[in-house]
Amino acid sequence: MLDRIELAEKNFKTEIESEIDLEKLEEVRIKYLGRKGLFTELFEEFKQLPKEEKPKYGQVLNKAKSLAQKLFDELKSKLESSEAEQKEYIDLTLAGRGVNLGSKHILTQTLDEIKGIFKGLGFSIYEGPELESDHNNFEMLNFPADHPARDMQDTFFVNDNFLLRTHTSPVQVRLMENTKPPIRALMPGKVYRNEAISAKSYCLFHQVEGLYVDEDVTFAELKGTLVAFLKQFFGEDVKYRFRPSFFPFTEPSAEVDVWWQQKGKEGKWLEILGCGMVDPNVLENVKIDNEKYVGYAFGMGVERIAMLKYGVGDIRVFFDNDKRFLEQF
Ligand code: PHE
Repeated sequence: MLDRIELAEKNFKTEIESEIDLEKLEEVRIKYLGRKGLFTELFEEFKQLPKEEKPKYGQVLNKAKSLAQKLFDELKSKLESSEAEQKEYIDLTLAGRGVNLGSKHILTQTLDEIKGIFKGLGFSIYEGPELESDHNNFEMLNFPADHPARDMQDTFFVNDNFLLRTHTSPVQVRLMENTKPPIRALMPGKVYRNEAISAKSYCLFHQVEGLYVDEDVTFAELKGTLVAFLKQFFGEDVKYRFRPSFFPFTEPSAEVDVWWQQKGKEGKWLEILGCGMVDPNVLENVKIDNEKYVGYAFGMGVERIAMLKYGVGDIRVFFDNDKRFLEQF
């Protein structure tokens, strides 16, 4: 009998030591500790033993059964609590689900910054349409039909008289036609050119036009204003140059280049804007007395400026809407 008690204990142990769940554990309990279980059977047998043999087996049997009961109880509560844990488990270390906040496109940010600086210099904001007449885009700006300077700007014509504006200068015309000097305004917006698309040029880009018309406006003021802008935008040590140039609607005219130094590459001048004194013919076209008033104007390319400031080497990335690019700003 001792053998069988020992065997029951051993088997019970191996059965509960194998991977077990609550359901199987209950089966094991019934098999060993239930009303018809192995230990109960052994106890029945024990009862039949002659009196003098009882002490010999009683102790061993009792010990084996209570050990089995103890092991069973421990395992059961362990399994129960881990099952409850699995059901209700909240992992407090798990990262929260983020709220994706949108942000302003880098060109909008750049435009905002440019506007902010010129507002500080006394300019107000004025806007015009992207679909423009040939009249405002060219003629009023001193580009008569067949003028070779029209070739400077490859144009998307909509029909004989209308086009997608090639620059923001027609907004000057609209403003001067509707406003009496003094005028000091900044005119941002999209412009379109039918150019071969490359890292340097795109069919669509943004310009910011500036115009100041009053009785005694000078080229020195134009220069002072632009230099003040460059220093605020790029920093005090910005390297720039004014270069004589030509535009039909300004005389004299200049272009401004900013030194572009990319890490590990040779630096170069990058043209960022055209400017000049408003041509008296333009003032006459918009019926402003060109004996009394003078003006200056400038037009800058926003993409060029953003490329310089943020070290972007290809204009096309502004329009790809690749989040990997946009998220950097
Ligand atoms: N409109 C010119 C261009 O797009 C820039 C410019 C604006 C030049 C105002 C002079 C004055 O190239």
